Amino acid sequence: MPTVTFISPKGGVGKTTSSLIFATQLAKRGVGVSVIDADPNYPIQKWSTGGHCPDNVHVVSDVTENNIASKIRAAAAVDPIVIVDLEGTAAKIVVHALQEADFVVIPMQGSLLDAEQASRAITLVKDQEQAVRRHVPNYVLPFSILMTRTPPAYQTRNMASLRKSLNDNGIPVFDTMLTEREAFKSMFFFQKPLNALSTSEAPGIDKAIANADAFAAELISRLSPEG
Ligand SMILES: Nc1ncnc2c1ncn2[C@@H]1O[C@H](COP(=O)(O)OP(=O)(O)O)[C@@H](O)[C@H]1O
Ligand SMILES: [Mg+2]
Repeated sequence: MPTVTFISPKGGVGKTTSSLIFATQLAKRGVGVSVIDADPNYPIQKWSTGGHCPDNVHVVSDVTENNIASKIRAAAAVDPIVIVDLEGTAAKIVVHALQEADFVVIPMQGSLLDAEQASRAITLVKDQEQAVRRHVPNYVLPFSILMTRTPPAYQTRNMASLRKSLNDNGIPVFDTMLTEREAFKSMFFFQKPLNALSTSEAPGIDKAIANADAFAAELISRLSPEG
């Protein structure tokens, strides 16, 4: 069963936010999901204690570099999808997590500096791919860049040119971008899935839900490209 792992060297780009969006979107679609919360601040674990965590979202915490592989495998034996939310890329825990990954999402904000950071994450994915190819010659570890925290109304020139240069270099990028929206912050503040937030708790909630739906649908389709 697919394990989807979110990595990026930089903090604050939206790994945890996009992990939780994907998890709650799957739950809404009736798909059981485990979230391995490997961020030392346990943001998703904390979110799940607010009394609004869907029954089919299972959060796994107390994750270390020594136990992450077995925790991912145990979760994958139970749930159709496993999500792994990591912090940074420098630690060994990331390598262990990538060994169990079936798809890697690399969230990135729209600047050149972020693109350089993202390329470090891509290198890790490629290193893992090469390691497996010693035994499985045609092995591919699929990944895609996710542009995050983009302005809702328009695409900046910076972002458009960044997207083009990624495309030109054959680097996959999600068509859907996660826009900067108060509602995505409110999810954590009120410890609720998007669809449980009221309009007073989360202005623009409908647009946030539409954005989350589009992201989840695209990620799901990338997990099974043959349909
Ligand atoms: N699309 C978004 N819209 C609004 N706020 C966001 C968005 N993505 C992330 N944030 C906010 O930015 C901060 C960092 O996001 P987070 O998901 O924790 O990043 P990371 O896990 O990569 O460190 C948090 O305060 C979060 O609420
Ligand atoms: Mg995080």
